[in-house]
Parts: sequence; structure tokens; C-alpha cells
Amino acid sequence: MRSVQLGNLKLDIPIIQGGMGIGVSLGNLAGHVMKEGGMGVISAAQPGYNNPDFARHPFESNIEALRNEIKKARDIAKGKGLLGVNIMVAGERYDEYAKAIAQLDIDAIISGAGLPLNLPELVEGSKALIAPIVSSGKAASLLCKRWISRYNRLPDFIVIEGPLAGGHLGFSWDQIRNHQLPDLKEILADVIEQMKAFGKKVPLFAAGGIYTGKDIAEVMDLGADGVQMGTRFIATHECDAHQNFKQVLLDAKEEDIDYVISPSGFPGRGIQNTFIKKLTAEGKIAVRRCVNCLKPCNPANTPYCITDALIEAVKGNVEEGLVFTGSNGYRLDKLVSVHELMNELIEDAKRWLK
Ligand SMILES: Cc1cc2nc3c(=O)[nH]c(=O)nc-3n(C[C@H](O)[C@H](O)[C@H](O)COP(=O)(O)O)c2cc1C
Repeated sequence: MRSVQLGNLKLDIPIIQGGMGIGVSLGNLAGHVMKEGGMGVISAAQPGYNNPDFARHPFESNIEALRNEIKKARDIAKGKGLLGVNIMVAGERYDEYAKAIAQLDIDAIISGAGLPLNLPELVEGSKALIAPIVSSGKAASLLCKRWISRYNRLPDFIVIEGPLAGGHLGFSWDQIRNHQLPDLKEILADVIEQMKAFGKKVPLFAAGGIYTGKDIAEVMDLGADGVQMGTRFIATHECDAHQNFKQVLLDAKEEDIDYVISPSGFPGRGIQNTFIKKLTAEGKIAVRRCVNCLKPCNPANTPYCITDALIEAVKGNVEEGLVFTGSNGYRLDKLVSVHELMNELIEDAKRWLK
């Protein structure tokens, strides 16, 4: 597997473990991926959920938690790999989070669930690499044009996420209903084509449904520099979610995984459990408290509180919480260590790479 140069940093193994909120990818998972030479990513979606002061001061609790998780990841990695933080553009106080996180001891900020059009000005003075997550060539081109014209800067790398991913998806409900979802490989080709206009090579990482080393080799043979993977990292001992969260995926069948509505407006993908069935039957689950998590959410008419639902799940209440997964979640059949998973992926990819 080729290493890849990202700005002035080298990523030895071109595998990014995607940020998974709430609390699914924190310092333990990220640190172990780094230790194997990949990029570990901590999710900035409410990592402070366990802080006793979280309900009253979510911002401060989250930044404090990030500081602790970053230290944990660095301690585990012992100088290996790179460390990223994933920040959702659709999150409340995005600008403040990005500014504060850029000052922490991290190597990269990866930002999706919306286009991070003003990210360069938020990280000014920081050494952190910056990368958007896009789901079309058009989005990549629009973002690059904006960054060049306003900031004379291109992304340090780009994550290209297709429709098989977990969490929030960068596609519309109309595309889903009308069966107009493009394939990850089509989107990758589209982004490669659009990026030619910018005259400089920007490393590209393909995401969404990448499951085996063969999948990695296929997208790399098509021009990706690496991959971002989420779901496979959930079935590891080191993943930061509760054991029940991992087990529900190990037990899931293909038909248990489907799209879910999210207060963000984006479709999501999760396990069909008691929570989803209740939501579908009743149309709404009353909000107990609001920590102002998502910009597009209005607590008065939101179908449910996504922060509450994701926290329930990551703490182990997998029937009444929201369990995000990628479309391949049902293929997980055993827990492994991150070391075993990375080795398997690398060896398998090497066999298939042309
Ligand atoms: C449980 C879960 C939570 C996720 N949370 C986030 C998130 O907070 N922000 C984000 O940009 N992507 C999120 N994602 C997407 C992943 O980072 C990753 O890009 C995606 O899952 C890749 O597809 P795969 O799961 O098929 O490998 C999440 C995915 C999962 C499965």
C-alpha cells in the first residue's frame, strides 16, 4: 500500500477511520488506528455527553472532552499515524467549534454534513490540514472554486462519500425515492474529472461501503489515493461504543438496515429497532431537553432529538436509541482488534492492487 502525502504530513497507510458520532469514535479507536499507521478520527459530535455539566454547557463540555480524547489517542499512538477531528457543518456553533478545535493538538479537520465553505478562515494560524466530505463532483468543484477565490487555498485532501455510508448521507430523499443514487465509483470518477480544472493534485479518499481490501484496491485502481471507512471499525474491541452497540450490528441482518429520517434534513442510515418503529408509527418522539446540536433542527417541531437518541444508543440502550450503521453493517460477524482489521485490509488490498 502506498503512503500518501497530505500537505506536509505523510500518512503511511492510506486508510482513514471515519469520524463516528456520538461517541462511537473517540480517542481509543482513533489512537489504535493511528498506531497502525492510518488516520484516526475523533467525532466532534457531542463527545462531552458524559460530562455532568453537558446539558448546561455543551460547548465547554465537548471541547474539554475533545482535549482529553486527543491526549488519549496521542498516548496510544506513540507518534504513529495522523489524528483528525470530524466536525459536522450542520452542527450548531460550527464556526466556534472549528476555531477552537483547530487550536488543539490535531493533524486534520474533516468536515461534512454540509459544505465547509468558510473552513479556511476558521483555522487560520493553525497547522491542521483541512478536508471537506463531498458526495458529487459538482460539490467538490464548487467548494474548491470558493476556497481558491476567497482564500487562495485548495483542500489538503477530499473525502468522497457515496450512498452506502453510515450516519448522515449527502443525498436527498428525492434521489433515494427516485432510485437516482449514484454509485461511489461514478462519484469518484466525476470528482477526479472536476478536479482537473484546479491544476494541482489533491489526494482523494473514497468512502461508503468500503468493506474489504479488495474494495480498497478497486477504488485505488480507479484513482483514489486511499479510503475512509466507518462501519468496519465499529466491530473492533477498541471502538468507543458500548458492547451492546457492537453486538446489535453483529446480530443484524440485511433487512434490519434502512434509511432513517434525521432532524438535520439529511437522510441517515441505521438499524430498524424499537425506536425507529415507534418513530414511524407515531411520527414524533417528544423532546426531553435540547442542547442545540443541529442548525436545521427546531425543537418545537422536530420528529425527535437526535442527540438524545444517539447518546442512548452509544451508552448501550440499542432498542430505544438510534444506531447508525453503513449499509454493510449486517456483514460484520465478529469482533476483532484494530491491529487485526488493519492487517487484514492491508494484506487483502495488496493482493488485489493492480
Ligand atoms: C455510527 C456512525 C456514525 C457516524 N457519524 C459521523 C459523523 O459524526 N460525521 C461524519 O461526517 N460522518 C459520520 N459517519 C460516516 C463515517 O465517518 C464514514 O464516512 C462512513 O460510515 C463510511 O462508510 P462505511 O461505514 O460503509 O465504511 C458515521 C458513520 C457511522 C457508521
